Amino acid sequence: MARKIVITSGKGGVGKTTVAANLGMCLSAMGERVILADADFGLNNIDVVCGVENLCPYDIVDAIEGRCRPRQALARHPQYPNLFVLASNHTDPQKYISPQAVRLILDQLAPRVDYILIDSPAGIEGGFHRAAAAADEALVVTTPHISSLRDADKVIGVLQSYRLKSIDLVINMVRGDLVVDGEILSPREISEVLKLPLIGIIPQEDGIFLGKEGKAPSKAFRVLAGNILRHTRKLCNVTHKYNGFFGSIRRSLKKSL
Ligand SMILES: Nc1ncnc2c1ncn2[C@@H]1O[C@H](COP(=O)(O)OP(=O)(O)OP(=O)(O)O)[C@@H](O)[C@H]1O
Ligand SMILES: [Mg+2]
Repeated sequence: MARKIVITSGKGGVGKTTVAANLGMCLSAMGERVILADADFGLNNIDVVCGVENLCPYDIVDAIEGRCRPRQALARHPQYPNLFVLASNHTDPQKYISPQAVRLILDQLAPRVDYILIDSPAGIEGGFHRAAAAADEALVVTTPHISSLRDADKVIGVLQSYRLKSIDLVINMVRGDLVVDGEILSPREISEVLKLPLIGIIPQEDGIFLGKEGKAPSKAFRVLAGNILRHTRKLCNVTHKYNGFFGSIRRSLKKSL
């Protein structure tokens, strides 16, 4: 039976879809069978991000409304045969879909795979509840920026009202040079502020995406996937190359860019 994990955030654009897609690729490369479900009904894009938008004629709304069986709505990723993408509605983004309907479809698919990763829209509106209601674990994604932390705090408060087995923190777009210079909070400080256990640190990287161009996920995503798979807490060190004499040169160079 699949572990159903919602990937959520308070603020938009912090990297939920990026984390969900890379995590899906890593877990499937480790031999796990994964469904990447898009619960962002307004701006459905996980199928586009994964480059499978033309590979499946159906989406989750077709499954909900009985035009296809749930498994017929899955698009197999061409490079990751264990990875299946379940697109949100292609046709009518305004259509109301209930949390129960999404949950029912994911529950029907759960016996076929090991993981269902649910990409949530930002915020705590209807779309968030649709995604959270179908999950039994949550990853909250934030960046180190204050506005993102404040919104993450709100979403954590709401998530706590769901009976989830775990809520873990992924800090994305971390710049090691700024952590060393004390210009942003360190990942551990952020975890303490939000009172949430840290399960992943993802550095800010150029050209992070993605599957479509055949770029493999970076080490930070492989470490995160390993933590989820094995219930461990290994964390990437994003500051080591900015410490010491050469590190200070790297920091100055990065700042002057
Ligand atoms: N670690 C990173 N380093 C550099 N760029 C990143 C990183 N993570 C995400 N991005 C970029 O940030 C942008 C937003 O990412 P993404 O779409 O994954 O965010 P999101 O939280 O899903 O947004 P939304 O709330 O709109 O759904 C994308 O252009 C993505 O490529
Ligand atoms: Mg997104």
